[in-house]
Amino acid sequence: MEENFREVSYSQTTITELMIPAYANFGGKIHGGILLSLMDKVAYACASKHAGNYCVTVSVDNVDFLEPVEVGEMVSMYASVNYVGTSSMVIGIKVIAEDFKVGTVKHTNTSYFTMVAKHEGVPVKVPGLILENKEQVKRFLEAIKRRELKASYRKELQQARLSLLVEPENTLLQKERCLLRLA
Ligand SMILES: CC(C)(COP(=O)(O)OP(=O)(O)OC[C@H]1O[C@@H](n2cnc3c(N)ncnc32)[C@H](O)[C@@H]1OP(=O)(O)O)[C@@H](O)C(=O)NCCC(=O)NCCS
Repeated sequence: MEENFREVSYSQTTITELMIPAYANFGGKIHGGILLSLMDKVAYACASKHAGNYCVTVSVDNVDFLEPVEVGEMVSMYASVNYVGTSSMVIGIKVIAEDFKVGTVKHTNTSYFTMVAKHEGVPVKVPGLILENKEQVKRFLEAIKRRELKASYRKELQQARLSLLVEPENTLLQKERCLLRLA
């Protein structure tokens, strides 16, 4: 059977939403969870359009909110398929917050959602990706690199866990702001 491929532009999705007072935390800034929920929605829309199938969120990388988002700002999320595996896709999401009154535009974060296409509960193959410019090729390669680095980080962390010295003599703990009151 002939393999199916789709352009990145086919599934590029943007959502824009006004940040209303109901989204604010006690400090008056927008809850991180509101932004995460919007990111998940746009990732789903982009992934399911590329896949032509229902998708689930498997993993979220690089969520660092570098600047707070204020009530009254207009938040736009730009989502693109950066990489496809067999059933998985990495969706890059750029988040921009604009204040039209003062004319400011903030880039609050760029995050990467791994989504998997499913049919009747089972992962299914997604179309390949047609890369039409160097930026798209760069994003595809970055996703491969990120996956490799994540795998080696997981491995190292697993090994580090096994060799942790859970005792008061651990010099790592002595430098930290903790008191040990072990029973
Ligand atoms: C992710 C999930 C589909 C994997 O299912 P599985 O039966 O183990 O299937 P596979 O091992 O074939 O993995 C399917 C794909 O997921 C990818 N995957 C699995 N775990 C992953 C992880 N932690 N990070 C990134 N990708 C992952 C695999 O690499 C594979 O990608 P590929 O097909 O492109 O090679 C399954 O664990 C699942 O459904 N999780 C729940 C997802 C969900 O409900 N999300 C909503 C949260 S409420």
